[in-house]
Amino acid sequence: MGKRRTYGGRRPVDLWRGQREHATTTPTGESDPMSDWTDVAKKDELLPGEYRVIDVDDVDIVVFNIEGEFYALEDVCTHDGAELSGGEVEDDCIVCPRHGAKFCIKTGEALTPPAYEPTETFPVRVNDEGWIQVRDPRWD
Ligand code: FES
Repeated sequence: MGKRRTYGGRRPVDLWRGQREHATTTPTGESDPMSDWTDVAKKDELLPGEYRVIDVDDVDIVVFNIEGEFYALEDVCTHDGAELSGGEVEDDCIVCPRHGAKFCIKTGEALTPPAYEPTETFPVRVNDEGWIQVRDPRWD
């Protein structure tokens, strides 16, 4: 039911490839007003080592595929608000591109200064049709 907007783009370095897309409908072209889950991509469109950023109700969420498992973080650094997407990914961590704070992709935990607070994590699922989906339960 959330407004959806994603962004397109590619990272210039390493194996991690990300996309940001802008859209006002789900990739399926359908909307389900009874569902809190928002489509991110088909499972085979987000391969290990890739991420995608999606706007769910004006919250940018970055969804990672780490070795076949999907994880979602708010795309914001808790130090000074930079986008985390575009930062270096080291194993299951992402490094903020602005000042270098490191966050655990699996837990959102801030691992190194200058960030001390975790960034938000979100539930991710793959539905029966093979869509990776996220939801933001904070407003339930
Ligand atoms: S904005 Fe991310 S470390 Fe400063």
